[in-house]
Parts: sequence; C-alpha cells; structure tokens
Amino acid sequence: MTEQSGAKWHDEPTDYAQIGKLPRTEAASANDTAPPAGVIGSLNITAAAADPELLDLPWHIALEDWPAANLAALPRGISRHIVRFAHLAGSVIAIKETSEHIARHEYHMLRKLARMDVPCVEPVAVITGRTTVDGKPLNPVLVTRHLKFSMPYRALFSQMLRRDTLTRLIDAQALLLVRLHLIGFYWGDVSLSNTLFRRDAGAFAAYLVDAETGELYPDLSVGQREYDLEIARVNIAGELMDLLEGGLIEEKVDPVATSELIMDSYRRLWAELTEKESFELGERWRVGARIRRLNELGFDVEEYAIKTTADGSTIQLQPKVVDAGHHQRRLLRLTGLDAQENQARRLLNDMDSFRADNNPDMDEEISAHTWVSQIFEPIVRSIPRDLAGKLEPAEVVHEVLEHRWYMSQKQDSHIPLAEAVQSYLDTILRHRRDEAAIMLNPDTAMLKILQAETEESRYEQDEYPDSDD
Ligand SMILES: Nc1ncnc2c1ncn2[C@@H]1O[C@H](COP(=O)(O)OP(=O)(O)OP(=O)(O)O)[C@@H](O)[C@H]1O
Ligand SMILES: [Mg+2]
Repeated sequence: MTEQSGAKWHDEPTDYAQIGKLPRTEAASANDTAPPAGVIGSLNITAAAADPELLDLPWHIALEDWPAANLAALPRGISRHIVRFAHLAGSVIAIKETSEHIARHEYHMLRKLARMDVPCVEPVAVITGRTTVDGKPLNPVLVTRHLKFSMPYRALFSQMLRRDTLTRLIDAQALLLVRLHLIGFYWGDVSLSNTLFRRDAGAFAAYLVDAETGELYPDLSVGQREYDLEIARVNIAGELMDLLEGGLIEEKVDPVATSELIMDSYRRLWAELTEKESFELGERWRVGARIRRLNELGFDVEEYAIKTTADGSTIQLQPKVVDAGHHQRRLLRLTGLDAQENQARRLLNDMDSFRADNNPDMDEEISAHTWVSQIFEPIVRSIPRDLAGKLEPAEVVHEVLEHRWYMSQKQDSHIPLAEAVQSYLDTILRHRRDEAAIMLNPDTAMLKILQAETEESRYEQDEYPDSDD
C-alpha cells in the first residue's frame, strides 16, 4: 500500500503486544476532498497501525479551512493550536496542527502513558511533509482518537453547574494528577482545558488530553509535584473566573477558594497512597485496614514495605507500588465488562447484593454471570437506538439502578426492574442531552460557549515546520 499511495509510512516499532487493527467497516467512500496524488507523495506518516483511510483526508488544506464534509461537530476545549475533529473510517479523530517537534514529543509521550495505563487520549499518527497543491508547506499534525462520551469542562458548564458538581470535577482532576505523579510524569500545564471528563457513576473520570509540556522521570521530587500543583491551582482559578464572567457558574462560587480544593484533594490522596505509618506491634490489624482503605479509594497495593524497629515494638508500613483500577479489574475479571472505576464500584455493589439476596451460596463467578444476564444486559438492551448516544451503557445501568432505588423509597415497595427501566427511559434519559455528540444539536448556551472558543483558538499560529527529516 505504501507504494501505491506514495506517502512514506513509518510503522512505529513496538515492544509490547500491539492492539490489532480495527476491521475496515466499508471501503472509503468516493471522496472529492481527498488530496491529489502529487500531494500525498510528500506526506510522512508515523503511526502505530497503518490506517489507510488517513490518506483520504485533505492534508493539502490548512486545518482551519477543511470542508465541513470531513469534520465532526463535537465540543472542543480552548486551545492555542488549531484543533478539529474529523471522521475516519467510522470513528472520530482529533487533529491538532502544531510544530513537528511538539507533535512527535506528544505522540510518544501519549504512547508511553497509555502503556502505563494512565487515562489519556490515544495517539493515532503524526503527519509531516504536508503541502498545498501549489507546494506551500503546511504545519504538521498530531492525530489522536476522539475520546467517546468525553466532554471538555466548558461543555459541562453549558448547564449551570452546581457547586458540588464542580467539587467532583476537581477531585477527578486531583486523582488524575496523583496517578500521573505516581508514575513519574510531570505535566507542566495542568488545567481543566487540558483534561477531558467522562461521567463516572455520579462522579467524573478525568483523562489527560494535552501532553505537550509533559516529561517522564524515574521519580518526581516534592518540588516538582508541588510546582505542578501550583500550576493546576493558578490555571483552574483562571478558568473558573472566566466561567464566572461568562455567567456559566453560580455567583456564589469563589474561583480562588474553589481552585484551592485541588490542593487538599491531591494532598489527602497522595498521603493515603504513599505515606509511612507506624504503630505498635499489637495493632497489626492496621496493616489490613490500610490496604482496605486503599482498595476503597480504587487502588491495589502491588508491593509494600513492612519494617519493625530494632526492639521489635513498632511496625512501619509503607505502600511501595500502588495500582489504580481496583474495582475495574474485579469487574473485568468477574464479568468481562470494561467500565470506569466508580461505575465498576457501583456495579459490583449491585452484583454483591444481588448475590446475597438471590443465591448466597453460589460461586462468585457464576453469580456474576447471572447478574450480567438478568440485570445488566436487559437494561442495556432496552435502550432504544435513538437514545443510545446519550450515555455510556455502564453509566445508564448505574442511573437505572439509582432510579429504581429512589422509586422504591418513594413508593415504599419493591419495583420490578422492567418498570424501573421504563420509568427511567421516559422521565430521565429521553430528556438528557446527547453526550456522544452534544454538538450535533447545540442549544443557545452551548453555541455561545463555542463561539468564544473558536475566537480564542484562532490567535497565535505556529511557525511553519522545519523541513528536516
Ligand atoms: N482526542 C481527543 N478527544 C477529545 N477531545 C480532544 C482530543 N484532542 C483534543 N481535544 C480537544 O481539543 C482541545 C485542545 O487540544 P489541546 O489541549 O491538545 O490543544 P493545545 O493547543 O495544545 O492546547 P494549549 O492551548 O493548552 O497548548 C482540548 O481541550 C480538547 O477539548
Ligand atoms: Mg491544551
């Protein structure tokens, strides 16, 4: 295919199990915006898996001027670079025009982070050597996969955000920062706009979207962590002031005080995950208690150090390697379902009480299987196609279970699942905005936000790529 297309493909050598290529859904449609052969010939594509459909996109046109037919209308955060979403073989990609150095650095950084299981966007390719039809150079691009059901924080604010929702958003951001710091990643530009949020059973899960300034070290010093935290605080305060000015958050929210919440949230979590604890020999139960607390926070302790003092009277305990995703892993092991941490926690709770109520003597695995076929799957199957883009399946199941609980509280009686599902669909899901694609039908408030974004994202273009390589 390389010869046929003329573009130079650099398949990224991989030293770990490579994820298989997605099956091609259909042949690329006849496309009059595809670049002419001569232009393709100069392209340099670095990708982990060759997506031949990449060649059908109009790389010979500056991103700002791409034809609407190629673009996917989805909400975007604020950015210095030009960023656009485009369709690629049945999926959506994000394309960022930037310098070659930045694109390559970010691409490799995202690959490393993904390998270490940190929630971040998935890198697809770096494309350089772009020229217009008459030979003028265009900026290189970084291509990442659009994170489905994710929202930039400004889109979350399109409905006036309650103060406690804001707190949860900041908690999610703090957890992400802790996870990054644990693996030695210094972010350098922590902000709400460099993070994407997905709903996670009433809370949020945060994903890193912009790794441009990030660096990986074997370990971070206290100074580096504190500096990142300070950047987070200052950026968040600025972002909140901006929202306040735009009338998008309640006036009683104090941007500076709210931004400081990230410090507490981060420090509390960091201490729980890493701090040394000393206790008397007789209080050995505290080892188990610490581990249970970490599990509750969503972490497994892969390794910990236990030391006794010389006289043997006190024990020191310190977690060494902690691994996020405790509930995710348990849910995956029992059911094969892949959900986010809080969703997993919520579903596991339901699964555990299902087992206690119905078949307490049944094997855990078998009971889990029964729960999937009697609770999870019927709920997911009952979502009509036209409502399927509203929320992720695991989130819908969580909301249905919640709804059923409220109904039974109110009516003081047992509510059959089918009745709860119907009521949820009619009274709640139908009235929610579409989160797989909020922007396909933007409301006025959203249009206002996006207007601000497109204007702000237009200033400062990057220099043209250096022509080495
Ligand atoms: N893969 C993706 N999935 C979803 N949204 C994305 C993705 N990539 C980028 N975005 C959106 O585009 C916005 C801008 O991306 P990014 O932060 O990488 O650009 P930037 O110009 O480097 O930003 P900055 O101004 O912080 O340097 C993000 O805030 C996010 O909303
Ligand atoms: Mg950014």
